[in-house]
Amino acid sequence: MFIGIDLGTSSIKMILIDQSQNILATANSSLTVQTPKDGFSEQNPQEWIDSTMECFEVLKLKKPKEFSQTISIGISGHMHGATLIDKDGKVIRPCILWNDTRSHQECEEFEKQNFDVRTISGNITMPGFTAPKINWIKNNEIDNFKKIFKVLLPKDFLRFVLTGEFFSEMSDASGTLWLDIKQRKWSDELLSCSFLQEKQMPSLVEGNEETGILKNELKDKFNFNNNVKVVGGAGDNAAAATGMGITNENQSFISLGTSGVFFTPTDNFLSNTGDAVHSFCHCLPNKWHLMSVMLSASNCLDWICSITNSSITETLTNVEKYFSNTNNLINSPFFLPYLSGERTPHNDPYIRGSFHSMKTTTSSTNLQYAVIEGVSFGILDGVNSILKVNKNFEKIFMVGGGSKSKFWIELIASLLNRNLSVCNQSEFGAALGVARLAMHVDKNINSDVSIIKEIKISETFNPIDNKIDLLLKRYSIWKDLYSSNKDIAPSLLT
Ligand code: XUL
Repeated sequence: MFIGIDLGTSSIKMILIDQSQNILATANSSLTVQTPKDGFSEQNPQEWIDSTMECFEVLKLKKPKEFSQTISIGISGHMHGATLIDKDGKVIRPCILWNDTRSHQECEEFEKQNFDVRTISGNITMPGFTAPKINWIKNNEIDNFKKIFKVLLPKDFLRFVLTGEFFSEMSDASGTLWLDIKQRKWSDELLSCSFLQEKQMPSLVEGNEETGILKNELKDKFNFNNNVKVVGGAGDNAAAATGMGITNENQSFISLGTSGVFFTPTDNFLSNTGDAVHSFCHCLPNKWHLMSVMLSASNCLDWICSITNSSITETLTNVEKYFSNTNNLINSPFFLPYLSGERTPHNDPYIRGSFHSMKTTTSSTNLQYAVIEGVSFGILDGVNSILKVNKNFEKIFMVGGGSKSKFWIELIASLLNRNLSVCNQSEFGAALGVARLAMHVDKNINSDVSIIKEIKISETFNPIDNKIDLLLKRYSIWKDLYSSNKDIAPSLLT
């Protein structure tokens, strides 16, 4: 048996699988996010520990015999968070999360060096990444900075709690900005930009390699029979890709979750910092991936639903009807979906959401359509940014909450002018991905058997031919709206 733990932003999800990858039991425990100021986003790592223990209890209760036979565990987590540990192994301050934008000034400081930071890190310095968060702590909380013994990513802190070991793996470490992405090792030069040294970093492995065994006290507490091994695991997007079997250049996925992601593996290190594309290691040896990230995707839909007092199902049904009449789209308003700034392609922490071309006749349905269309345009921006450096992907899977809407998938298929496939994925995709990585350290599994298989397609959607031209015309206007708004954006934030 194998356990996959997915430390998400809003909950911990856990699965127990057998050798044939049948899901035997699942568990879920919610987490809270604190927002002490606008742009700040933090979590208390103690909640991760409590929720993990709660999920172990649930799995044990549901399948006691199988649970006790666990061989290994994989951990996935939300990326980039800075969890600071002092020399006694204590957490110094709450973890600053991936969607925290307080460190935008420190990003400039980080890149002001006598060498090209982007060439080594493969990435543009963005406030979401770990490194500028540490520069912010140095500039604003010097006592905390001085106490730093280790900087751990959220899932690597959980590993430390479970095993007592300090390890990370390539996919998550890529999002720190201290990794030499091409060489797959910590970079002394990049660490020096945050006034850190390699000894303050965890050791590095690949996602399918062992990092230690579960502490004795936990083995006894949960009645595990074996010395349970914990493998490297992965950052959440690489883990989700592994759960779907997306490890090759011809595959890719679009995720319409809280954030909007386009992810495609590459066999070599490639980078496009000009468009703020994320260039990261994949969680398997000799594999990399490119990724576009928009910060607000389906949460734009949640937001418009709440302010128009409409449920998601009601909104999607409404908008689907509206979209079916092409004439409706011609004079429709536009929406910039940047509710909390944007990463790909703008790297703009100042821009915020806005509606354009509102008229006396504008209805709530017009606004709802504009939001869904604006998020879809953002996804197209991301795919186009990656196409500038890599054209190898053919298959595209749609995943995440937004992929439940047939009409939304057809809208994106039309914009991309490509077929899009959906699969019967579950909310446990990232947990399955790391459980699959954990299977690699089981000596009883024949190494010729492929553990990471591609998920089955359940339906494929085609572009709607007669909508493509109109949508692309609207996309081009929408792009101009960002260009003409970006200069004024900083002065709108107090
Ligand atoms: C990726 C990113 C998010 C977080 C949270 O760069 O910031 O996907 O990992 O899910």
